[in-house]
Amino acid sequence: MKELSRKIRKLRPDIFQLAGRMPDCHSYVIKGTDKNIMIDTGLPFAGDAIRAGLNEIGLAVDDIDLVILTHEHLDHIGSAPIFFATAMIASHRLAAMKIRLRDEFAMMNQLFGLSADGFRVDICLESGSVIHTGNYSFTVIHTPGHSSGSICLYEPEQRLIFSGDTVLTEGNIGGVFGSGSISDYIESIERLQMLKVDNYYPGHGPASKDPTAELQAAIDRATTILADSKELFNVVRAKNKFEHIREYMKHLND
Ligand SMILES: [Fe+2]
Repeated sequence: MKELSRKIRKLRPDIFQLAGRMPDCHSYVIKGTDKNIMIDTGLPFAGDAIRAGLNEIGLAVDDIDLVILTHEHLDHIGSAPIFFATAMIASHRLAAMKIRLRDEFAMMNQLFGLSADGFRVDICLESGSVIHTGNYSFTVIHTPGHSSGSICLYEPEQRLIFSGDTVLTEGNIGGVFGSGSISDYIESIERLQMLKVDNYYPGHGPASKDPTAELQAAIDRATTILADSKELFNVVRAKNKFEHIREYMKHLND
């Protein structure tokens, strides 16, 4: 795969987007007065473009103190190894387990024809964890749905969210993959909607323009998928997969 260049967008004072082009994701950089943070790292081939992007905003790879992964998909964690020598890597604990155990079904690495080996997570985050950079404070919001370990990062004073793949542009949703759940997804977006932010910045595509309407559109889309998913049990012939469990359970009454 070809190296992907990254355009730099300044979103707020000391907050930058290093824009990835599909299928790569965006990375976000917060230049803190105390600590520098990067959110998501893109595909494994994004390393040089990330280095160049960081240089453009006056940083080097070893200036990043903490890398936060919004979830375990390979297009978000792929270039994390360039930070291994000098930064801590954090994700929700459920994403961390999948990365540590090389859970390829959850990590989606085969979609990109790439290996799931060589990744690590140092810090397991929980909903409510707060990360201070000196000039900003980000609260971790666990938003299961797209995957079980998906998180968003909320900055209450700036009234913004980094939404990963949970909510994309114009209220599109990232879809339900691997460990995800459509009903969890709806509940997660409803919680984001209650924050009444001015902007959300997704993992792919442009930032929100009207977050209230776009989050409602996301809930509506997810609700439609929930209705469609009623057929899923039969489509994947799930009943057959549970037959051996049913057989075993019959003996529990013996
Ligand atoms: Fe994803």
